[in-house]
Amino acid sequence: MAQNLILLGPPGAGKGTQAEFLVDVLSIAHISTGDMLRDAVGKGSQLGLKAKEYMDAGKLVPDELVVGIVRERIVEPDCAAGFLLDGFPRTIPQADALDAAIAELEVLPPVVVNMEVGDDELIGRLSGRRMCEKCGAIYHISRDGVDVGDDCPGQDCDGKIYQRSDDEAEAIRQRLEVYKQQTQPLIDHYGGKGQLVRVEATGTVEEVNGKVMAALRERGVV
Ligand code: AP5
Repeated sequence: MAQNLILLGPPGAGKGTQAEFLVDVLSIAHISTGDMLRDAVGKGSQLGLKAKEYMDAGKLVPDELVVGIVRERIVEPDCAAGFLLDGFPRTIPQADALDAAIAELEVLPPVVVNMEVGDDELIGRLSGRRMCEKCGAIYHISRDGVDVGDDCPGQDCDGKIYQRSDDEAEAIRQRLEVYKQQTQPLIDHYGGKGQLVRVEATGTVEEVNGKVMAALRERGVV
């Protein structure tokens, strides 16, 4: 049966960075609710118009909006071979809705990788994050030497580098607070169901990658 994964962790834990690698290695679909919402904001769709003010303020978009887009996405054909959820679920009601959808679809309950990183490291990662507006690649000013307005260093990409509006100091503080209050309880939710693996997500991107793969190997996923 197809393997499904969830990357859980605070803002800046490296979920998006590790997801890029994992979906490639495992040939599964990448479902990032943050990317889907940013895309909706960019297009000015109904969903985007509703989501924008929450996102800019570092708050969670209401459950009913996010649950709706994930329910529609996980039944698309490319998810039949497995999917990786990045940034979803983030609240207990979202986890309950996902549990119900998984039972209905009769697919394997996801293995949940909890990426653990301390607050100081998270703030440094988020405040230095830069992204490509075209290919969505994730960079860091210190590690990659790119800044706003530069050309994307990615192969075959002519996009420009930008900084996410929620990577500004006050929004980062708010997002970390929201994580502690609304998302951290999911660690016990999935721990209690035996679905959780813990990874200390510190060290270089490659080192974290090695730790995630080792945890998945131990779990029999790869
Ligand atoms: P979303 O886009 O999901 O943001 P997030 O969870 O806050 O996570 P981030 O994307 O900030 O961090 P990440 O863990 O992916 O880290 P990354 O790999 O980029 O959500 C944005 C907003 O959308 C939310 O605030 C909310 O409003 C809304 N939303 C989304 N999903 C929702 C949901 N389910 N319900 C309600 N609302 C929702 O890495 C960060 C930086 O660190 C990068 O610069 C990277 O290069 C660097 N880095 C990565 N790994 C390392 C490493 N090992 N060492 C050093 N630097 C590293």
